[in-house]
Amino acid sequence: MKHVIAIYPGSFDPPTNGHLDLIRRGARIFDELIVAILRNSEKNALFTVDERLEMLRECTGQLPNVRVEAFEGLMVDFARQSGAQAVLRGIRAVSDYEYELQMAWMNRKLDATLETVFMMPAGAYSYLSSRLAREIASLGGSLTGLLPPAVEAQLRTRLGVPPLEPK
Ligand code: PNS
Repeated sequence: MKHVIAIYPGSFDPPTNGHLDLIRRGARIFDELIVAILRNSEKNALFTVDERLEMLRECTGQLPNVRVEAFEGLMVDFARQSGAQAVLRGIRAVSDYEYELQMAWMNRKLDATLETVFMMPAGAYSYLSSRLAREIASLGGSLTGLLPPAVEAQLRTRLGVPPLEPK
């Protein structure tokens, strides 16, 4: 029987409900899904890799075929070491497509046996990114429904922004 392992690589700084939506969708079609946090860019990140590992493990604990790991170096090397046959990436809008296509082609050049699979998150997350979440939080805006509540609280604490008063 075929057992398909996919990896879902990213920065997840911080994880958003868009990421979680994609993880749930991926977990439904792949036998195993490895959420893989990139270590390379740790120096410029708001949260450490360990903090992101903990946040994502907390948010995906109820999905038995999902595990969260960190990786360093080339994504294709990590995929090979993990026995993955597919890479999952989310496409929110046409604007994502060009960058994603370039990465997918380059990854195919590096390892032709690894297939990139694109999935769309729910429309409600089509405008959401970790970068915008960091910016909105730093300016005191509401992220209700866009981040897991525990992640939103950690983000405000990290940015030194007080919790929002209920309206
Ligand atoms: O969440 P992001 O920042 O869009 O994720 C980008 C990521 C981590 C998927 C990409 O930068 C990556 O795979 N980096 C690992 C190094 C690598 O393999 N680079 C070649 C990509 S073609």
